[in-house]
Amino acid sequence: MNNVKKATIATAIMLAGGLGQAAQAEVKVGLMLPATGTYAALGKAIENGFKLYVEEQGGKLGGQQIQYFAVDDESDPAKAPENTNRLVQRDKVDVLVGTVHSGVAMGMAKIARDSGVIYIIPNAGADMLTGPLCAKNIFRSSFTNWQPAYGMGIVAAEKQKHKTAVTINWKYAAGTEAADGFREGFEAKGGKVIKELTLPFPNVEFQSLLTEISSLKPDAVFAFFAGGGAVKFVKDYDASGLRKTIPLYGPGFLTDGTLAAQGDAAKGMLTTLHYADELNNPKDKAFRKHYQEKFSMEPDVYAVQGYDAAQLLAAGLNHAKGDIKNKDTVIEGMEQAKVDSPRGPFTMSKAHNPVQNIYLREVVGNHNKNLGIAVANLEDPAKGCKLSK
Ligand code: BEZ
Repeated sequence: MNNVKKATIATAIMLAGGLGQAAQAEVKVGLMLPATGTYAALGKAIENGFKLYVEEQGGKLGGQQIQYFAVDDESDPAKAPENTNRLVQRDKVDVLVGTVHSGVAMGMAKIARDSGVIYIIPNAGADMLTGPLCAKNIFRSSFTNWQPAYGMGIVAAEKQKHKTAVTINWKYAAGTEAADGFREGFEAKGGKVIKELTLPFPNVEFQSLLTEISSLKPDAVFAFFAGGGAVKFVKDYDASGLRKTIPLYGPGFLTDGTLAAQGDAAKGMLTTLHYADELNNPKDKAFRKHYQEKFSMEPDVYAVQGYDAAQLLAAGLNHAKGDIKNKDTVIEGMEQAKVDSPRGPFTMSKAHNPVQNIYLREVVGNHNKNLGIAVANLEDPAKGCKLSK
């Protein structure tokens, strides 16, 4: 090869490199969510919410184009390391967003801590993630499992005047921590949890447990199920006839995004959550209108959490003038964010979890109607988190 040819090839390689760098002005977002299984609809709502906010900003956050990478995590904790590394090692994402299932999120958080990638959790409530396992680069736009469940415990004892309760849930972090949170609130106000019933995730064979509830005769039942499992549980509870004598409560996952499938079986149910239909603040009205227009369906809490994950990232990127590589400044912006959420404005706790209102809701028609604030500005205790604000 003569020297002119060699120089031409070298210039072409440099140009290609230069273009590559220009393309890197984008921010790479890795969405790791369930696209299959009992939590598939929840994953889709989070993705819709996230993309809706980005689209409202013209496809850019902090002035940077957003490029998406996606992996179906199947709500399978055993596959979490491999799936997360597809995004972090292979695709080299700048920001990791996911997921629904607490066990999968624990696996994601380990890789986030080891690699330092900015990680936003748009649902999974595992208390530990913003407790003893909290980290500078890990944020949550959703809730801890303790938050809505604790609120329900207070309401069940104080407002509903129940003295005894049975809890029932899938036996993994989300269910166990929700049952613990309920017990804490309920027993602090004079109630007593007389039995904790569990079954493995995502099992939906509830019959023998419903028979047990019937013989225990508690004043109330508190249940943690979500997605397809929540649809089945609420219908089975109603069909068993138990609902006539023993009211069923839960964190709002029991009736959020599920009402069309649950029909009359959910009618009148009370739940607690950091979102309700028709909160009627201007942000919520605009959000619900855009979401309905774009996806031809009403949003739910999962869509809100996805939307707010994008808002949180925007706060960080704006603070760093769009420079995602300036990680400390992005993180500082996220820590200081006051998110104008459809749920109402919220701030980040020192452990990077929303400090937020917990609403009491009642199922009326196809909506979780807001009955008012059950606990205002509830902050997770974040036991064991060493971060400081
Ligand atoms: C969880 O695994 O943390 C979870 C899943 C669905 C709804 C709420 C929490």
